[in-house]
Amino acid sequence: MRIPNRKNGQFSVDLETNLASLKLDNPVMTAAGTSGHGAELSAFFDLSKLGAVVVKSVSAYPWPGNPGPRLAPLAGAMLNSVGLAGPGIGAWAKDYLPGLRQAGAKTIVSIWGKTVEEYAEASELLAGRLDGIVAVEVNVSCPNLKAKSEIFSHSARATRAVIEAVRPIGIPIFAKLSPNTHSVAEVAEAAVEAGACGVTMINTVLGMSIDPLTASLDLGGGGGGLSGPAIRPIALRAVYELKRRIPEIVIIGVGGISSGRDALAMMLAGASAIQVGTATFSDPKAPLRVLGELTELCARLGISRLSDVVGYAPKGMKITSAVETLSDMKAEDR
Ligand SMILES: Cc1cc2nc3c(=O)[nH]c(=O)nc-3n(C[C@H](O)[C@H](O)[C@H](O)COP(=O)(O)O)c2cc1C
Repeated sequence: MRIPNRKNGQFSVDLETNLASLKLDNPVMTAAGTSGHGAELSAFFDLSKLGAVVVKSVSAYPWPGNPGPRLAPLAGAMLNSVGLAGPGIGAWAKDYLPGLRQAGAKTIVSIWGKTVEEYAEASELLAGRLDGIVAVEVNVSCPNLKAKSEIFSHSARATRAVIEAVRPIGIPIFAKLSPNTHSVAEVAEAAVEAGACGVTMINTVLGMSIDPLTASLDLGGGGGGLSGPAIRPIALRAVYELKRRIPEIVIIGVGGISSGRDALAMMLAGASAIQVGTATFSDPKAPLRVLGELTELCARLGISRLSDVVGYAPKGMKITSAVETLSDMKAEDR
């Protein structure tokens, strides 16, 4: 780790992020499905400042999603059953992609399908429109499809088949994985062997909410996916365990991140980049704020190159300079 020059009070933090073949200016992204289909957040901040913008999962064809209500706010969490509603890649590219290009966003397109063939179709349709698109995130883990057996990332074999089908697209591929399985490492390994640059984890945690006064389910889709601060420990552990088992794997960490501290913890657990999702619902500037807080925190901790700390926790290492700085901090600052 490089020790910062503190003498002149100046401190610069190198935020450059390498996700296998994908190089980004910084590690902070939006999370799929939590900030619209395109450049909606540019009403609040300059999207080009983020490492990347991940758009809502889109399929080859338009898809209506689940009946309402689709969102249920809970204590420290949110439950959703949006069900992958979307316009289909053709309409998405016409109506949303130009705005993203205009905003200067480095766009990562999340794609989904109900079959391996539909994933292949989605990537073929996307392949002709790659200007401004830096990578594809393959959502093999949506919990909001009718048959839970359709969660491809509960099976290493099914995940491998999907990534192989998408591979011809020729841009970096990330597989978005589910926490709702005990075989995350096998699934991640299969995704990478099949051609993914890395994995994004985690998608939402399967959940449900019932109103006891009316005995009715809170979501129109029945169950749904839990997100927000409540799932942060689940995400953190999933990332930590995967990095411990496969040290060379590239992970994008997501789940309950709403501050620079959350982001740094996720990177220490093993994520090379992070995504901000549910936090954006209450604070549309959350992804940019998290980036600012992360940068500031690194400066305070003496981390001059952020990529140096990725996976420190599974390696059982300590940030020596960080410990020194922390001991200097006042209690109220911590
Ligand atoms: C309303 C909503 C819609 C989502 N839609 C998608 C989606 O289309 N594709 C996807 O891969 N993940 C989707 N997710 C999951 C998020 O990208 C993220 O993995 C998850 O919410 C955990 O992160 P968070 O706690 O920061 O929200 C959605 C989450 C929410 C809350």
